[in-house]
Amino acid sequence: MSLQDYAKLLRARWLTVLVTTIIGVLAAVSITLFTTPLYKASTGLFVSTTSSGSVAEIYQGNLFSQQRVLSYTQLIMGENLAQRTIDKLNLDMTPDSLQARVKASARSDTVLIDVDVVDESPVRARDIANALSDEFVVMIHDLETPTGGGLPDSRVVVEQRASVPDEPVTPRTALNIVLGLTVGLILGIGLAILRGLLDNTVKSRETIEEITGASLVGSIPYDKERRKEAAITFDSDNSPIAEEFRKLRTNLQFLAVDNPPRVIVVTSSMPAEGKTTTAINIALALAESEHDVVLVGGDMRRPKLEDYLGLIEEVGFSTVLAGRASLDDTLQQTRFPRLTVLASGAIPPNPSELLGSLAAKKVLNDLRAKFDYVVIDSSPLLAVTDGAILAACADGVLVVARFGATKREHLAQAVGSLDDVGARLLGAVFTMTPVRGGGSYSYYGTYGEKQAPRPVPPVDSTAATPSLHRSVIIPEPAANGCERVEPSSP
Ligand SMILES: Nc1ncnc2c1ncn2[C@@H]1O[C@H](COP(=O)(O)OP(=O)(O)O)[C@@H](O)[C@H]1O
Ligand SMILES: [Mg+2]
Repeated sequence: MSLQDYAKLLRARWLTVLVTTIIGVLAAVSITLFTTPLYKASTGLFVSTTSSGSVAEIYQGNLFSQQRVLSYTQLIMGENLAQRTIDKLNLDMTPDSLQARVKASARSDTVLIDVDVVDESPVRARDIANALSDEFVVMIHDLETPTGGGLPDSRVVVEQRASVPDEPVTPRTALNIVLGLTVGLILGIGLAILRGLLDNTVKSRETIEEITGASLVGSIPYDKERRKEAAITFDSDNSPIAEEFRKLRTNLQFLAVDNPPRVIVVTSSMPAEGKTTTAINIALALAESEHDVVLVGGDMRRPKLEDYLGLIEEVGFSTVLAGRASLDDTLQQTRFPRLTVLASGAIPPNPSELLGSLAAKKVLNDLRAKFDYVVIDSSPLLAVTDGAILAACADGVLVVARFGATKREHLAQAVGSLDDVGARLLGAVFTMTPVRGGGSYSYYGTYGEKQAPRPVPPVDSTAATPSLHRSVIIPEPAANGCERVEPSSP
């Protein structure tokens, strides 16, 4: 992957990066809030020898003090001095816990010792630091005084006393937040790249065209309005999604100029990829350009078409196939001009059998004769064979893939099952593409501008045009024996 690919990947997953960074900052803030503030009070001790006299003696004495200093730091942090300080201040703590709060360090090549005491209370930190230093002075006096009496060999002076600290030393709010931000950002970028590398969904024109072997003929943007109302009101709607359906309509009409496909199945690999919504709006877009269109509910297992359009579900395709009603009686007029619907009908126990029957072919032929276009909604191809059976009887199939959700292998299997029945793939359609942000890299800006969909020869063409694209190879009699009906121009 090139650097540019990583940049695209990050742009597509900016939300992951943002959320992880926010979590990092929130974690830092909560750690900061839950950390008990500690205050540090410090004193400075000066160690000297009592020797005086010649320069050499002073020099010797100084060296002696420097060596002493190292032992003194250990004594300051020792148990003995801790106990003496506790006794003096009447503290309610063990020597161990006091020792843990004291740190003494010698400044190199000097006779100075820094004593730091940390405590939850700033006043107590100061008191302990001062009392401990005072006790140390006394302790050293006792220790360094020769047994026989006389002047001690070394003495310690509190050169700087502790004062009450204003600011706590921990937590370090700014540092914690910067750390939280950095760690969150790094984790977010890592997570985004990992998710991107593991992502096997279809997200680009190249991928969808490579897998299907057909051109991308439409890219339908995500439009939250469609969740409430599947049908677009084309005569008053110039929204991006309406424009995309118009482009898709034009592409369909250009696919085979001499003999455009008129019976079109809309299918996909899995449920909820936008088949029904897309079928409805392709039909409406065709109706908008003055064509009589019938929309057929070919999904007899989970019919949604009627629900989306507010029509009667119980009487339709399955009812006609079962011989319980005539086609004319079951066709429903819609509130949209030039759009008629043949609902899926009552859910039958054997949809595949019904759809593969001669009666089904006859119904489709009758519809072809009555209407300019027959748009068929269908079941997902990986779940049941219904979609493939319908596809074999149609002039062509539009295979739908939901952007960033349809898995590559599922799409490949779906196309394979269409191949198996000799269905004619007209093109691929992306649904629910991101409107802005990450997804835009894959498709927008190329579709319809630089690249027109590859033309598909008319259905009755027998010449096998050599091409990489499957869509140009016209299937001979379909594998399931579906009798192909030669389409006539609308
Ligand atoms: N372009 C779109 N923008 C937003 N939501 C959509 C779009 N197309 C479909 N949906 C929604 O996605 C869900 C599945 O769509 P549907 O057409 O029923 O898919 P399928 O027929 O493949 O099961 C529905 O809730 C539908 O409203
Ligand atoms: Mg559906």
